[in-house]
Amino acid sequence: MTILKVFEVPSPVLEQKALPVDVVTPEIKQVLADMLETMYATHGVGLAGNQVGLLQRLVVMDCAGADEQPNPIKMVNPEIIEKSEELVLHNEGCLSIPREYADVERHEWVIVQYLDENGKQQTLKATGLLSICVQHETDHLDGILFIDHLSPLKRKRLLKHLEKRRRKAAEAEL
Ligand code: NI
Repeated sequence: MTILKVFEVPSPVLEQKALPVDVVTPEIKQVLADMLETMYATHGVGLAGNQVGLLQRLVVMDCAGADEQPNPIKMVNPEIIEKSEELVLHNEGCLSIPREYADVERHEWVIVQYLDENGKQQTLKATGLLSICVQHETDHLDGILFIDHLSPLKRKRLLKHLEKRRRKAAEAEL
């Protein structure tokens, strides 16, 4: 297992569209395992290919609650094929935008189709936090971040806040 480097804003790779995976090879399976390990190590609930510098449509997530059994999910080429009309607000964060959070409107549930790590097609109806996570991660594959769902003003403020904290942290290290 390898802990991968997580790219943060403003890395261009986060704004690019990831490409579909043709065949789920043993190498892809290994990358998914490394992504999951990286996600757990950084205390995230989801991680997309772009975030580790790979423009491949790969996603890992685990939205199990603290008192639940782990529920790791690995997706290749995930595609949302149906979504609820009902929307919900959820306070989101992202490993690529560390320690910044904002309310984002998402579909209450989605049905996602994907290949599992063995190349088998799966269909999943995601509700609750998992639904939010699927939408957040598939957005990543299209080069979209949760802050892109905010008003331009809110987005700018959040990024400014992140920049300020980064500057302070850098100064503290001098
Ligand atoms: Ni994210």
